[in-house]
Amino acid sequence: MSMLFEPFTFAGMELRNRIVRSATYEKRADVDGFVTEELITLYRNLAKGGAGLIITGNALVHVSGRSVPQAICIHNDFYIDKLKKLTEAVHKKSGRVAIQLVHGGRQCFPSMLGTERPLAPSEVYEPTLKTTPRAMIDEEIWQIIESFGDAARRAVYAGFDGIQVHGAHGYLVNNFLSPYTNKRTDYWGGDEERRFHFLEEVFKSIRKEAGDHYPIMIKLNSADFVEGGLTVQESLKIAKRLEDMGLDAVEVSGGIYESQLKAARTGIKTVEQEAYFREAARTFKKELNIPLMLVGGIRSKTLAEDILREGDADLISLSRPLIREPDLPNKFKEGKEKADCISCNGCMRFMKLDMVRCTQLEKGAD
Ligand SMILES: Cc1cc2nc3c(=O)[nH]c(=O)nc-3n(C[C@H](O)[C@H](O)[C@H](O)COP(=O)(O)O)c2cc1C
Repeated sequence: MSMLFEPFTFAGMELRNRIVRSATYEKRADVDGFVTEELITLYRNLAKGGAGLIITGNALVHVSGRSVPQAICIHNDFYIDKLKKLTEAVHKKSGRVAIQLVHGGRQCFPSMLGTERPLAPSEVYEPTLKTTPRAMIDEEIWQIIESFGDAARRAVYAGFDGIQVHGAHGYLVNNFLSPYTNKRTDYWGGDEERRFHFLEEVFKSIRKEAGDHYPIMIKLNSADFVEGGLTVQESLKIAKRLEDMGLDAVEVSGGIYESQLKAARTGIKTVEQEAYFREAARTFKKELNIPLMLVGGIRSKTLAEDILREGDADLISLSRPLIREPDLPNKFKEGKEKADCISCNGCMRFMKLDMVRCTQLEKGAD
């Protein structure tokens, strides 16, 4: 009996199956961050392709957090009308769509900001971008917290079915949570309780604007995979704190730009190499009551079914496989066993690509 294609409901949101399109930046917004026809077509195809829930590529809550070009923006009311077109396209195909809210923090390309120094909790050098961010002052921190709430209000107006806070992968929320990047000694830093304050305020700001019953999720690092970074046990405590505050679901990922073990790993050739955050998910599941999404290297249907059956996760999240095959959920349903994605990360060389796409397809590979 397939569990993957059983409907799943949480926080009042009915999903037609348990497959989630994990947030994936598309480089298809226009240069000002407005939704384009290309982006709507992509979402229509994802919805037609059968995913139960689609999470958008990271959407910008404040201009000081722009990390990449042509990402979706939601930092101004001007964006609402076109975002609404995107949610309507998904709903017409019986899909659900949540928006991922982000501030890029320490990992913003300076060229994206028009300034030399990205904003972060503390001035910890970032080796991949070769920049040292500037520590935010109190006023800036409150401004960003408010911008998450404002973005949430816009998301509701635009018809999104839920919100996911990007709390993973080395962006601003993760910067505050992690002892590796948060060296502050004021209200926003210090022990794990104090490092949680920023996310606590972000969550409260979103909940206030979105309303008590609106689905709010988070993508969290199980671990940062850098010395002195977040560990699974510490991340689990963060998830538990959020659950107590009324969080509706958590997606488990891991890694930051400079870590050895990354969120999107290459060289997944065997089933054993798939689902590389499964162990962490199992640890989380033991302690949490809210639904858990597992992302990272899942390629085989049998494995996805096994993860669900064993209770290691409630939902299966896929990113790269859906770049290559937006209709993979339907194909799985019709009997396909394995995604075509070979995890080469050609799609991640987006600074060189005109848009995020599967570079294998152009090579004429099978
Ligand atoms: C091109 C590309 C863009 C991505 N953009 C985002 C993003 O906007 N937000 C996010 O949380 N993760 C993003 N990710 C990470 C994926 O959501 C996912 O966590 C990771 O790729 C592992 O899952 P996979 O093996 O199914 O690809 C991106 C990954 C890729 C390859």
